[in-house]
Amino acid sequence: MIPATFIQDMLSRVDVVEVVGRHVELKKAGINHKGLCPFHGEKSPSFIVSPSRQTYHCFGCGVHGDALRFLMEHAGMGFVDAVRDLAQQVGMAVPEDDSSPQERERAAALKQRQATLTEVLAKAGEHYKQQLKTNPRAVAYLKGRGLSGQVAARFGLGYAPDGWRALASVFPRYDDPLLEESGLVISQDADDGAGEADRKRYDRFRDRIMFPIRSVQGEVIGFGGRVLDKGEPKYLNSPETAVFVKGRELYGLFEARAALRQKGYVLVVEGYMDVVALAQLGFPNAVATLGTACTAEHVQKLFRFTDSVVFSFDGDAAGRRAAGRALEAALPHATDTRSIRFLFLPPEHDPDSFVRERGSDAFEQCVADAVPLSRQLVEAAADGTTLDTAEGRARMLANAKPLWSALPDGALKRQMLTELAAQARMDGADLASLWLGGTAPRMPREAAVRRPPRAANRLNRGTASLLDRALWLLLQRSDLWLALDGESHDILAGQAAPYDAFFGCVERSVLDHGPLGSAALLAELRTHAEQIGATALISRIAEFHDPEPDADLARELAIVLDRLRLQAVEEELKLLFDSGTLSEDAQRRGKELIATQARLKAQLAKAPEPAAP
Ligand code: UTP
Ligand code: MN
Repeated sequence: MIPATFIQDMLSRVDVVEVVGRHVELKKAGINHKGLCPFHGEKSPSFIVSPSRQTYHCFGCGVHGDALRFLMEHAGMGFVDAVRDLAQQVGMAVPEDDSSPQERERAAALKQRQATLTEVLAKAGEHYKQQLKTNPRAVAYLKGRGLSGQVAARFGLGYAPDGWRALASVFPRYDDPLLEESGLVISQDADDGAGEADRKRYDRFRDRIMFPIRSVQGEVIGFGGRVLDKGEPKYLNSPETAVFVKGRELYGLFEARAALRQKGYVLVVEGYMDVVALAQLGFPNAVATLGTACTAEHVQKLFRFTDSVVFSFDGDAAGRRAAGRALEAALPHATDTRSIRFLFLPPEHDPDSFVRERGSDAFEQCVADAVPLSRQLVEAAADGTTLDTAEGRARMLANAKPLWSALPDGALKRQMLTELAAQARMDGADLASLWLGGTAPRMPREAAVRRPPRAANRLNRGTASLLDRALWLLLQRSDLWLALDGESHDILAGQAAPYDAFFGCVERSVLDHGPLGSAALLAELRTHAEQIGATALISRIAEFHDPEPDADLARELAIVLDRLRLQAVEEELKLLFDSGTLSEDAQRRGKELIATQARLKAQLAKAPEPAAP
């Protein structure tokens, strides 16, 4: 771990305008700088870089962060690399950190290991590519599937020859543990189970067409291998390794990056073959999940490259189920400036067979006709219910509530409430009071766990007194965390350090083993505080008075949250006012902020003053 104090020190010397300015053309705007947001496509600027706050912020798509986050999110650097990069720019040396020598060694070893793993995989990939050239049967297979040599080269397709130890000719040592670790070689105990030398080793991929899977940076991190004829399994995939996590990676994303910008959207399909075929037939903007469901992390990753996602599903029951999971993964990311749609193909087709049979124009039409998320949400909620009885409509609403709650606050969320009410033949205000009146709607536990990691929102600069109070309230009643909606979780866990870490700690604790008593949770927070060097804060909070026996802590937490919301809104408004004229998106955002500010102020006017500690 790099000490937090070093990072703060470094960031105080770095100029965010300079760092961002290297990637984005910036113009002076009031006391700030503005430019076209590099995180979503736009024609007039909504993206502000503030030298006084040392942050960037987009009023169109809502991204924000400091110089460090910019390098990580935009240039795709890892945390440590981004710190190194910045440190070097300001002439600082990243210190030997305060973790134990063993931990440091382990971290260095892991990094080394990852580098060696991708090297090994790249070498195997080259080998498979060469083998394809010399194997007429494999070439004939790809030709038979209609692929051009050009597209095969673009995706680095290869062939793993038949043979149990073909890789022995590529790597100097076939018993190198790296071959096993990279998933290229399978090792099994011999029957007598004797020593290392007796283990049976053999190539995982034999007589298969090889699809190298690349990271966004272009490194080979794994493979998918398809049988040429009939055979089971049809596709064999690399196992998860230190460099290959299926819930995080998307096949074809590296190859599609430029096309995402040109086409303006990403097409998410199910198969390797679909991605390659689509690229050849006019849709180089397709990516695929890796034989697993689409995760929130996948969706989050895609929104770094485009603001429009079209999920494509086969028109069968499995496709509908997959669509349900994709919907859940996408909901937390469905902000008002993004578009998420669902395309269903006829039951007998996948994208590959569809474009080949009906042509690119027909597929383009399918994309144009894709169902927007708002409709998919209603359909998913109504699935299996009948809307012609009150019971059926109530059931639909019960299905819809967790989905609706997962949406981020905004115009879409409000309209969905009206829409769902109409479907249930209810008055919008009625449904609002049903869902928002008593306890706040809460996400099911599963959805909460699946929520993507949060970006620290530097606009959430709540004052220490409010944040201390919120933490103290949750310490008394950690069950309250579960009653909060996702937006409230984001506000708390998106505060500046070290509060983000403490609220994150509460969340993890509650999700791991349910709500704890305040003494037990305090002990957990203390341990964490020692690790990050923030014990003073925890001691301060531990000394607050015990709550009055009749105190309504849930209500107090709701008020504290509203105050935090108001602070964040006012912070963002200030930034907007300091930045001159901006895009229509930004102006719309400004109106939204002013309305929210008014609503919060009115609400808080009725609330009692915060209790003194
Ligand atoms: P499909 O069976 O739909 O295959 O699997 P496909 O992509 O259309 O391939 P072709 O056209 O038959 O060659 C879709 C995806 O599911 C995963 C793979 O990622 C595949 O691309 N899958 C499928 C496996 O991981 N293993 C399998 O045995 C089958
Ligand atoms: Mn197919």
